[in-house]
Amino acid sequence: MALRSAAWYAGDDRNAYIHRAWMRRGVPDKAFERPQIAIANTASDLTPCNAHLGEVAQSVKNGIYEAGGIPLELPVVSLGETNVRPTAMLWRNMAAMATEEMLRANPIDAVVLLGGCDKTIPSLLMAAASVNLPALVVPGGPMLTGTFRGVPLGCGTDVWRLSEEVRAGTLSQADFLKSEQATIRSPGHCNTMGTASTMGLLAEALGTVLPGTAGTPAPDSRLKVAAHESGRLAVELVTAGRRPSDILTRASFHNAIITLAAIGGSTNAVVHLLAIAGRLGLDLTLDDFDRIGSQVPLLVDLAPAGRFLMEDFHRAGGLPAVLREVRDLLDPAGLTVTGRPLVDYLDDAPIWDTEVIRPRQEPLLTEGGIAVLRGNLAPSGAVVKPAAASAHLLQHRGRAVVFDSIEDFHARVDDPELDVDADSVMVLRGCGPKGYPGMPEVSNMPLPKKLLEKGVRDVVRICDGRMSGTAYGTVVLHVAPEAAAGGPLALVRNGDWIELDVPGRRLTLDVPDSELATRTPSTEAAAAYAAPQRGWQKLYVDHVMQADTGADLDFLTGSSGPEVGRESH
Ligand code: FES
Repeated sequence: MALRSAAWYAGDDRNAYIHRAWMRRGVPDKAFERPQIAIANTASDLTPCNAHLGEVAQSVKNGIYEAGGIPLELPVVSLGETNVRPTAMLWRNMAAMATEEMLRANPIDAVVLLGGCDKTIPSLLMAAASVNLPALVVPGGPMLTGTFRGVPLGCGTDVWRLSEEVRAGTLSQADFLKSEQATIRSPGHCNTMGTASTMGLLAEALGTVLPGTAGTPAPDSRLKVAAHESGRLAVELVTAGRRPSDILTRASFHNAIITLAAIGGSTNAVVHLLAIAGRLGLDLTLDDFDRIGSQVPLLVDLAPAGRFLMEDFHRAGGLPAVLREVRDLLDPAGLTVTGRPLVDYLDDAPIWDTEVIRPRQEPLLTEGGIAVLRGNLAPSGAVVKPAAASAHLLQHRGRAVVFDSIEDFHARVDDPELDVDADSVMVLRGCGPKGYPGMPEVSNMPLPKKLLEKGVRDVVRICDGRMSGTAYGTVVLHVAPEAAAGGPLALVRNGDWIELDVPGRRLTLDVPDSELATRTPSTEAAAAYAAPQRGWQKLYVDHVMQADTGADLDFLTGSSGPEVGRESH
C-alpha cells in the first residue's frame, strides 16, 4: 500500500531526512512507514461545547496506535457559538478552508474529525470533502440534562423561553439569573435538537461516523469507546482507500435529508448540507430538501419544538431507532465509513421509550421536513420549519412591520408606538451572508413586549438570516437573494401586505410589479449596510454565495483533492 505520507518520509535523501528528523520525538524508524492519521481537533477553552475533546482525542490515539497507525493531533480553527462575534457563521468557511489546507499541506494519510458545537462539524466535513483524504467524524456529543427547580432545562431553547417570560412579566429577573448556573450541567454541546445535535446525527446519516455512536452524551464512557474504535477504523480507511467521495454521495445526502425531517432537526442543516455537497461538486439543491424530506413523518419529540432532550434521545435508542422506522425511505446505496451501507445497521435498533422516539404509525407530525417557499419575495427560495411553527399561521396574510437591521429591531421592538398587532408580519433584513455579514441567527425575532403582554406568543416573521436550531416559531428564513444582494426583501415597506402559504409553498409580497419596479431600497437599509474593507470579512463579502447554495465562498466549491504540494527544501 503506497502511503501519501511517503512523499515526505520515504527514501534516504536529505529532504526525507529533514521530514523524519523533526518528527522523530522518540518514535522508531518503522513509524514513518505506517499510516499517519491526523486528529483534527476543535477543542478550545473558548468553545466550551468542545472543551472535552482533548480527552476524546486520547481515546482516538489509543485506537490508532492499536491498529498500527501513528496519531498526530492537529488543532484546527474552533468556533464557539456563544462567544464568537459578530456570528460564528462568518467564520465557518474560514475554518473549513484553513482545515482543508492544513490537511493537504501535511504528511497525512487519513483524518479523524473531532467536532461538536454548531459550526465545527460542518466546517470539518467541508474541509474533508474538499481534500478527500480518508476521513471520519467523532461527534463530541451533547451535554447532560440540566434541571432548575425540578424541571429539565434545555440549553438554548429554555434561555429564549425564560427571557420571554421575564419580558412578559411572568418570571422575576432574579429567578431568571438563578437558572443560569443550572443550564450547562456537563461537558458537551447543546442538548436540544439544535444545530450541534442535528449535525452530529446527520454526520452519521451521511455515513461519516461509526454507525450507532452519534448522539452519545459527552460524559458517557461509551463515547470514549466510540472514539477508540474510530481511531482503529481510520487506519482501516487508509488500507481500504475509502475516501469522503466514496461515502458522501447523492444517496447519503438523500439519507441525511430523510433523517433531518424524522428527527425534526435544525434549519441550519440545510445551509450546511448544501455547502458540504458543494465541496464535492454534487448537484444538491434547496428543492431537494422539500422534495425528499417534506413528507417524512416527525418521530422525535425533542426540544425546541418538543418535550425531551438529547440524553433522553440516546436512552430511547438514538438515531438507529429512528432510522429503522423510516428504513423504507432510506437509500440503501448510502455507504458508511465501515464500507457497509447505513441500512445494514438497523436490524437491531429497538425504540426503548416511545414517548421520546415515536413508532412510524404514531408520528408527532405526518410531515416533519423543511418546506421551501418561493414567490416574488424570495425568488431563489426561503425555508420554514412547519414543525416549529404555529399551525394557525401556516396560511396567513398580514401587514409588514419592517426592520432594517438587528440594531434597528432592538431599538424599536418595544416602542409602545410601534404599529404592530397579532396579525402583523415582522420583516427583518440586512441579516444575510453579505448584509450582516455572516448570516447570523436572528430571524426568530423576540416579539414586541406589547404583544407578549396580550398573550401573543407567535407571529409570522420573515428574515434573510438564519435561526438558532434551539429556537421555534413561525419564522421564514434564509430568504434569497438577501436584501443586501439586491433581493426584493429590500423593497418591502411598512404596511405592505404579505401572504404566507406554507401548504402552497408561496411567499408573496402583495404589491404590483409595476409599483415594485419604481421602488428603491430604503435609505435606512442602505445606511445599515457598510461593506467591510479589509481582511477575511472583505474576502467573505466579495465571494460568499447566497443561502440557497450553502453560503460557501464561490471559489471553494467543487472537489479539489489531496494533491501533494511542491517540496520547499
Ligand atoms: Fe455550542 Fe450550542 S453553543 S452547541
